[in-house]
Amino acid sequence: MAKLSIVGAGAVGTSCAQWAVNRNAAEEIVLVDVVEGLAEGKALDIAQAAPLCGYSGRISGSTDFSTTAESDVVIITAGLARKPGMSREDLLEKNVQIVRSVTEQVVAHSPDACLVVVTNPIDAMVYTAFKISGFPAERVVGMAGVLDSARYRTFIAEKLGVAAQDVCALVMGIHGDNMLPLVRLASVGGVPLSQLLSEEEIAEIVKRTQHGGAEIVGHLKTGSAFTTPGLSAVEMAAAIIKGQNRVLPCAAMLDGQFGIQGVFLGVPVVLGRGGIVKILEFELTAEEREALLKGAEAVKRQVEATGI
Ligand code: LAC
Repeated sequence: MAKLSIVGAGAVGTSCAQWAVNRNAAEEIVLVDVVEGLAEGKALDIAQAAPLCGYSGRISGSTDFSTTAESDVVIITAGLARKPGMSREDLLEKNVQIVRSVTEQVVAHSPDACLVVVTNPIDAMVYTAFKISGFPAERVVGMAGVLDSARYRTFIAEKLGVAAQDVCALVMGIHGDNMLPLVRLASVGGVPLSQLLSEEEIAEIVKRTQHGGAEIVGHLKTGSAFTTPGLSAVEMAAAIIKGQNRVLPCAAMLDGQFGIQGVFLGVPVVLGRGGIVKILEFELTAEEREALLKGAEAVKRQVEATGI
């Protein structure tokens, strides 16, 4: 019986739990949060959706990490979210403490789990979870590329007036302003994007994608995006739990791929049983490589700031 645990019952964690139930991601779903009653209440509310959405598993909430024992996948969302004017890096100092403590507790109860890290700044927090857990690199991934690529695909679809699911487009690199929405490889129903929109139109979409998170923070004022971040993490968790071998952009530990070593960065991976089955490496243009390296340098600075 597959078990998925979600740490943090804030907006993103709750969204994960909702999507996980909706998508039947695991037979057992556990939501945990340090705040008394929060995860219990949220889980109870979500459990009562089961007759309506057809979920046949079990979902529960707790403050006690022992309830997450023997999870197949643990999604870590615990931490502070951005407010207007804040960068993801501004969260680093507080969130590194939270991710460290959460990872220790998760690992103590689920030594064989895969970790999907969502807490920002993602690329540094996934590194933190990797180091603290001592897990092999294939069992630790960060969620960003699925979300950023979904935003990119949505903006392309809107501009063209086509169904978003027919847009195939990849965002690589850091989850930040230097992320790399690949234009050369983006396509719509198999037709190259560059043949459908002008350079200026594409540049505008790329820029909007790079600031997609901040655009939402600007509207919400009290927090950041949660619906699509939650679904993105659940897509990754389900790919692992169900052994789907989905090709999804994830923050993965690079060991020389794309000429980068020792940092987590968004790259296309095959995600299936046991976590990362394979990183799909391919040739980049000089310009793309430069953009990816710029992101990698920024991630290295973030990681240094964690003191891990
Ligand atoms: C965003 C957060 C998850 O991009 O970083 O909305």
